[in-house]
Amino acid sequence: MLQAAIRAPEGNPAGLAFLYRRQFELCKVQRGETIALVSDLTTRREYIQAAFAAADELGADVYEMCVNSVPSWTKVGVPTIGKCKGTLEAVRAADIIVIFHVPLFTKWLKEVMNGGTRVLMIIDAPDDLDHLMSPKGLKDAVKHAHKRLSQTKKVHVVSDAGTDFTYTCGEYPVMSQWGYADEPGHFDHWGAGHVHTFPNEGTANGTVVFQPGDIIILPYCRYVQDPVRLDIRDGFVTKIDGGLDAKLMRDWLNDNKSSPDDRDPFAVSHLGWGLNPQSLWYGIALNGDEPERSRAAARTFPGNFLFSTGPNSQGGGKRNTRGHYDVPMRDCTVVLDNEVVIEKGRLVDPAMVVEREAR
Ligand SMILES: [Fe+2]
Repeated sequence: MLQAAIRAPEGNPAGLAFLYRRQFELCKVQRGETIALVSDLTTRREYIQAAFAAADELGADVYEMCVNSVPSWTKVGVPTIGKCKGTLEAVRAADIIVIFHVPLFTKWLKEVMNGGTRVLMIIDAPDDLDHLMSPKGLKDAVKHAHKRLSQTKKVHVVSDAGTDFTYTCGEYPVMSQWGYADEPGHFDHWGAGHVHTFPNEGTANGTVVFQPGDIIILPYCRYVQDPVRLDIRDGFVTKIDGGLDAKLMRDWLNDNKSSPDDRDPFAVSHLGWGLNPQSLWYGIALNGDEPERSRAAARTFPGNFLFSTGPNSQGGGKRNTRGHYDVPMRDCTVVLDNEVVIEKGRLVDPAMVVEREAR
C-alpha cells in the first residue's frame, strides 16, 4: 500500500519531544509507570522517538509494539491487538497505551479500559498536535457538557438550513474527550475536546440537512458542496436527497452493507458537539484535505453538532458496521430538554466556552 506524501511540518521537528513531554505531563505519566506505544508500519518514526524521549525525561518505562495490520482511517474496528498471542496481555499490563491508529469500536479496547489502563490516541499531524493541545479550562468545560448531556432526556436540533431532528438518550453512556488520558480507564485523543452519546434505539426522528461548509470528515474529508436532506425514521436514515454529496453518501453506505438487507450503515450513530477553541473549522481550506490535518480539528471545533451513522458498539450496542459517516455540522441550534446550549453554531452555555490560546 502506498502512503500519501506527508507535508513537512512548519514547526521544528526536534521540538516534538518537548511537545510529547507536555502531553505526557497532562496525561499524568509518573516515574515507574509503563507506557506501551502501539504503532503500525505507517506510524511516523519521529512520533516514536519523541515519545521515547519524553518518557525517559519523566522516568517512565516505555516500549513499542508494532502490529502487523494497518487499520485505514475509513475502516474502524480492526482488531490490531489480540490476534498475535500475548499482545492483549501485554497492553493490559501497561499503565497507559499510546496508540497511533484508531482502536475505537474494537473489543480489545474495552477490555483494556475496563482494567483501568489509560489510552491516548495520536493520529494527527505535528503542527496540529501543537495547535490543538488541550488549552486551560477545556477539561472542565467538557466535564460540564458531559454532566449536562448525562442528565438530558430529549435532544432537539434545528437549523435555518432545514434540520429539525429529535432523539432521546439515556440508554447508552455519554462519552467525552478533553485531549489527554489522565484518569484510570479513560480513552482520549490528542487534539480532542467534545462530548457525545448514542441515541436510544429507535428514537432518532425528523430531518437533517447538511449545508455547504459542513464537513464529511469520515470518509471523505471534504466540505459539503450542495445540500443533503436526510429523512430519519425510528433511528435510521430512510432517504438521502440532494446532488453530488447525496450520491457520495448513498454509495458509501450502500457499499458497506454486509448483505442486501443490512440497514446498519444507515443507523444514526454517535451524536454530540465540539468545544475545543484551538480547532479551526476552516482547517481544510487552509491546510488541504489530507485527513491527518483534520481528524481532531474537524470534529471538535466549538459549537459544531457532530452527526454520524453506522456502528454503536463503542457505546455498548451491537452494530459494528463499517458504514460509518461523520459529519460535523455548522450553524445548528441544540436544545437539551428545554435548554439551548448551542445557538446557530455558537456555544451559549458560558461553562462550555473556553478561550483560545495563541500558539
Ligand atoms: Fe465517528
